[in-house]
Amino acid sequence: MPNKFDINRIAISTGGGDAPGLNAVIRAVVLAAINRGWEVLGIRDGFNGLLLPQYFAGGGLITLNRDLVSDITPLGGTILGTTNRNNPMRFPTPGPDGKVVEVDRTDELVEAIRIQSIDAIISVGGDGSLEIADALQKKGIPMVVVPKTIDNDLDKTEVTFGFETAVDFATEALDRLHSTAASHGRVMVVEVMGRYAGWIALYAGISGTANVILIPEIPYDINKVCQKVKQRMAQGARETSVVVAEGAIPIGGDETVIAEKSAGHAERLGGVGEKVAAEIQKLTGRETRVVVLGHLLRGGSPTAYDRLIALRFGAAAIRALEAGLSGVMVVLDEPEVRYVQFSEVIGRMKQVPLNSDVVQTARDLGISFGD
Ligand code: F6P
Repeated sequence: MPNKFDINRIAISTGGGDAPGLNAVIRAVVLAAINRGWEVLGIRDGFNGLLLPQYFAGGGLITLNRDLVSDITPLGGTILGTTNRNNPMRFPTPGPDGKVVEVDRTDELVEAIRIQSIDAIISVGGDGSLEIADALQKKGIPMVVVPKTIDNDLDKTEVTFGFETAVDFATEALDRLHSTAASHGRVMVVEVMGRYAGWIALYAGISGTANVILIPEIPYDINKVCQKVKQRMAQGARETSVVVAEGAIPIGGDETVIAEKSAGHAERLGGVGEKVAAEIQKLTGRETRVVVLGHLLRGGSPTAYDRLIALRFGAAAIRALEAGLSGVMVVLDEPEVRYVQFSEVIGRMKQVPLNSDVVQTARDLGISFGD
């Protein structure tokens, strides 16, 4: 049953890691809201604009109008400042001894939302934003979430915007690396983002003609990886390309962590590419180089497809509020967008299904998963 609430003024927040297409969501939200006679505020820097408004010259809220969103669809990043990962439920706050601790500031946030007469919030983000939206909605704030992550690991939606842009970029990088790798007879290891799911590695690896793809869903055996390299060398191949998701794990081992979790910061993964490359060079004797694509995958302009998904999600979020829906996330279920309850998606992750035709396609093409 839809909730009943009147809407005059809404706010939009962008949280978590950025993804190409955030600005397209903002544009659709603003235009669709203004077309309904609603006012739209942009919250600066995630929810910081409401929690730390004193830090922002001119305040933590921006009144968004047609002019401000007129040509932002192709822009990377977010016009709302930063999409930082400060979670109001665990807000990094200096304690009396100067040590930063995590403090639940959601009550203050609710208070700030009420003071600003904000009737509903559209939160564009990933799993962290979903958790925050759920807490705010339980405290009485109408909330709609637009899913966002280049990793494409949010459940219930066929895809998230930013994913295709990342896959396109990684594929182009692989296309370019083949010739330089072949010119030197090298193995090229390309590390891509993907903490707990290997969608980017898998899609770009297949499209960019990789020979080995290592993803978190399929723990690898380095000996199997080297077997593939040696087999290609024996067949006279001049190069071997290996795509590694940052969250790839060896059989019986763990993810490669470069920074442990600390107050206000999640654990950071990275370095598995270096590790795999060193092992390949040692075990095969073949010169090996590493390229870490990292944040290049999140930067720049969204593809036309990602723009369209983002615009559809933004407009659908407004239609949800108009229909009196709250506590829902917009999802793509082609040919439609629809809405799922927060409870259906919180804490769930969409990993690559091992029996999917995409994985089978890779195997049919002779690509090794190191298993
Ligand atoms: O957006 C998700 C993600 O891209 C992960 O794949 C990656 O581990 C993480 O963001 C990196 O985040 P940060 O920019 O905070 O280092």
